[in-house]
Amino acid sequence: MEIKITETTTPKIMPKESELGFGQYFTDHMLIVDYDVDKGWHNARIVPFGNISLHPASTVLHYGAEIFEGLKAYRTAEGDIQLFRPLENIKRMNTSAERMCLPLLDEGEAMNMLRTFVKLEEKWVPHSFGTSLYLRPYMFGNDETLGVHTVKRATFMIIASPSGSYYKEGINPVKIMIEKDDVRTVRGGTGYAKCGGNYAASTRAGERAGKKGYSQVLWLDGVERKYVEEVGAMNVMFKIDGEIVTPELTGSILPGITRKSCIEVLKKLGYKVSERLLSVDELMDAIKCGKLDEAFGCGTAAVVSPIGRLMYNDVEYVINDEKIGEVTQKLYDVLTGIQWGRVDDEFGWVEKI
Ligand code: PLP
Ligand code: COI
Repeated sequence: MEIKITETTTPKIMPKESELGFGQYFTDHMLIVDYDVDKGWHNARIVPFGNISLHPASTVLHYGAEIFEGLKAYRTAEGDIQLFRPLENIKRMNTSAERMCLPLLDEGEAMNMLRTFVKLEEKWVPHSFGTSLYLRPYMFGNDETLGVHTVKRATFMIIASPSGSYYKEGINPVKIMIEKDDVRTVRGGTGYAKCGGNYAASTRAGERAGKKGYSQVLWLDGVERKYVEEVGAMNVMFKIDGEIVTPELTGSILPGITRKSCIEVLKKLGYKVSERLLSVDELMDAIKCGKLDEAFGCGTAAVVSPIGRLMYNDVEYVINDEKIGEVTQKLYDVLTGIQWGRVDDEFGWVEKI
């Protein structure tokens, strides 16, 4: 599919790299593609960044037909720009699309759109280590009628935001609260899909945690509220008695690309990794017996983020003296090293633009 490019006549200036934060600034352009059942995907275009217009009955506004992805473009010390496992994001977007009855993307065409867009926005990829251009592909149902059914029209877009650290703590340990009341999703629901509704439903618990001084919540499974699942914007891993344990993908957890990469790195480094059910009771026992050596989250925005304090049933537990553990640090070094081109990419994960 040809991509028509209309460049902005009023380019913006990049804010100071030290003040980027996460998702606050946007680049000069955005990519838009239309879909309808008769024509399929068509009219791919890159246009100046700006507001879009939607019919007041648009499906996304009423029934939440929306999915998204998150990945980053990194600048190496040599000035090259590279993506980390971008095809994994496209594949996951198609898994999400299938769940939400939205149209699938052609993988090759989606990759081409991503590359063309990043190439055009090249100057927006920041230079300092730890900063990147966060890319947000997303899709929404866009029928102009109120019936509830598989959409006949949809829109795919990519926007981009030069970003620094997701958490204000940076690589320093974050405080997480285990959520006992709200649940994020259930098996058979949409947990494995990256759809907007999962996040909308998560906000209340996140707010409550925030008021108590915690960065995010750790979700328990939606049926028994017994098993640890994941954190608001990252998967979780625990080092218990020498073994790395991460919740298995039961269908209600987002299959993180960082999670998958961490598992591969850990196995290569010789660690024993178990993907299995982990009950909150087992986790609490491990803390009380001094067997929980490290806890950390992993995700594109959050990278690898140590968990320094865990709150459960109104009791706060300090993990690893609130220090970054050895495994957490090693994973952070390997992953960020590959992403920013500082260490050899022995896995073949990066793609140069
Ligand atoms: N879990 C949730 C709920 C997320 O929002 C994210 C972020 O995308 C992740 C896990 C980590 O996924 P990934 O490593 O693919 O970014
Ligand atoms: C990501 O890590 O890309 C995410 O999507 C997390 C988030 C900001 C929802």
